[in-house]
Amino acid sequence: MSIVLVANGPNLGRLGSREPEKYGTATMDDVAALCMQWGSEHGLEAVVRQTDDEAELVRWMHEAVDAGWHVVLNPAAFTHYSYALRDACALVTAAGLVLMEIHLTNPHTREEFRHTSVISGVATGVIAGLGTDSYRLALDAVAARA
Ligand code: DQA
Repeated sequence: MSIVLVANGPNLGRLGSREPEKYGTATMDDVAALCMQWGSEHGLEAVVRQTDDEAELVRWMHEAVDAGWHVVLNPAAFTHYSYALRDACALVTAAGLVLMEIHLTNPHTREEFRHTSVISGVATGVIAGLGTDSYRLALDAVAARA
């Protein structure tokens, strides 16, 4: 069974109570359960993690490369400025693995600083603005390419 790492960046551990009018009411645990369910429907094992730590996220990209895991990544605020995470994501796609960048909201409809993604240029694809469906569609995309 192919493994897909569903990695989530800073503040996404607060889903459910964090600005629910923007991010919805599903918690990170709810998102994890959904991803495991959606993954299994495609024969994918979803390993779902969240961290507020940039270095940990970078290490997880390295781990994905070494283990041959595809990645669904919500980089959260790191999207907009983490060159370290971008370089780590570039290693994933350079290894021939799929890396889907996803967002619950559509950053392009929000503040100016969210309009830049330093990750998109090295991602296989980007899905944004669809709430938890962004995760589902990203897993569909991984399954189609895995
Ligand atoms: C986000 C969008 C980012 O701009 C923001 O910093 C987040 C969440 C999203 O899922 O919509 O933390 O990645």
